[in-house]
Amino acid sequence: MPKITIIGAGAVGATAAQRIAEKELGDVVLTDIVEGLPQGKALDLMEAGSLFGYDSKITGTNDYKDIEGSDVVVVTAGIARKPGMTREDLLKINTKIIKEVSQNIAKYAPDSVVITVTNPLDIMTYVTMKTTGFDPARVFGMSGVLDSGRFAAFIAMELGCSARDISAMVLGGHGDTMVPLPRFTTVSGVPITELLPEVAIKRLVDRTVNGGAEIVNLLKTGSAFYAPSAAVTNMVEAVVKDTKRVLPACAYLNGEYGKKDIYLGVPVKLGRKGVEEIIELKLTSDEKKALDKSAEAVKSGIAELSA
Ligand code: APR
Repeated sequence: MPKITIIGAGAVGATAAQRIAEKELGDVVLTDIVEGLPQGKALDLMEAGSLFGYDSKITGTNDYKDIEGSDVVVVTAGIARKPGMTREDLLKINTKIIKEVSQNIAKYAPDSVVITVTNPLDIMTYVTMKTTGFDPARVFGMSGVLDSGRFAAFIAMELGCSARDISAMVLGGHGDTMVPLPRFTTVSGVPITELLPEVAIKRLVDRTVNGGAEIVNLLKTGSAFYAPSAAVTNMVEAVVKDTKRVLPACAYLNGEYGKKDIYLGVPVKLGRKGVEEIIELKLTSDEKKALDKSAEAVKSGIAELSA
């Protein structure tokens, strides 16, 4: 069985562990800075295995030594933005956490493929790649799969059709500047631009862009974790099964889309080696402008790191 480590046994991490175990994608090591938390959740998940019928082993630990030999490492460690905290405060705190986590990944799981989930996603993925020193193909982030999943769900609700037949595409940074692409979003091959009026598409695009905030406003004391954990599980599956699925991911660009030394959401081919190919879509000038704006936002976040 592949060894899949999840760093951060909070809402997203623990639910991802559950989904990965239920799909028997591998054995799961759950780690966290809080003593007892990963152990308790891992034991609970092991007990659920006897009832739900899965053979994945789930262990909890506070010791990085236990991540040795991991094939995949999912990073959800970090804190969420609290009231009164600026975006810069969050950036500083999570950068510190991600640096520490990345040093341990480099030390104990030097051959792993790393999938980042912690926000601000595009910047944290950049920090992870730089700190681990890994080939950028082996470090990427979970953003577009979640955002396109949300877009697909909203389209399905609007059309009253199965979300399974929808293939949605969202590019750009994981935030206010993300770029949902209606032209590349289809229902069984038919672009939604042929199925929905422009105003409806605009409404669904806006809802997608604000998808995370909509959940936070409803929950009040937390953020989304069912869809984020589902998204990361899809990506883990593509890696451990080497499926070569084409999914939008936060990937390192070195010239693609005219961008360099930046992590940004683009369609990629995912397999055992990580990002095995970056797919360059032919964008219209408006789509390109929106992607440029998104890249600028990510670049200014990266610039803040050294400020
Ligand atoms: N090392 C390991 N784990 C840590 C560290 C650290 N240095 N710092 C914090 N953690 C752990 C926390 O103890 C907590 O259990 O990370 C976990 C984060 O879990 P939650 O607070 O429940 O957050 P969650 O909803 O899972 O989101 C995690 O994913 O979607 C993003 O924005 C979200 O950045 C956030 C991340």
